[in-house]
Amino acid sequence: MKPLKVTSNFEVYDAVEELPETIQDLMKEAVLARDNAYAPYSRFKVGAALVLDNQEVVTGSNQENASYPSGLCAERTAIYYAGARYPKSQIKNIAISAKSMKHKVDAPVPPCGACRQALVEYEVKQKAEIAVYFMGESGKVMKANSIKDLLPLIFDNSAL
Ligand code: THU
Repeated sequence: MKPLKVTSNFEVYDAVEELPETIQDLMKEAVLARDNAYAPYSRFKVGAALVLDNQEVVTGSNQENASYPSGLCAERTAIYYAGARYPKSQIKNIAISAKSMKHKVDAPVPPCGACRQALVEYEVKQKAEIAVYFMGESGKVMKANSIKDLLPLIFDNSAL
């Protein structure tokens, strides 16, 4: 037996104002997109904004459904649209902001497991890391330089 230690790196910012202006702008796009969430069941709204190497910004928000599993998270709404609309472009950064209609979300909200798997597919596809910035409605922002920090030991096409 050999132990295997897996480490992930994150940066924690006390407030969004600590981030570079370009990322603050991207987070503003995520917040705007969050308002378009259709979340009548969870009352939990998430917005995601990603910027491509052609400077285009693609946004998404969670879209729920009366048949609960048919809904989709904000991150996947955004990244699948980016893949569909700009298949040859590289995704550089993604910003995510979450807000509950029931209570204040003051802590960073990381993407769910299914979104991490969806996101890492594009990192593998484009052979370049995607930086992720995530926050609640206010408070600290966390950054990972790669989706792999959020999802170590990825399952990808190398296994197929
Ligand atoms: N949600 C997202 O949009 N992104 C995540 O990473 C976590 C969860 C959405 C799905 C659902 O509409 C609501 O938040 C509550 O889970």
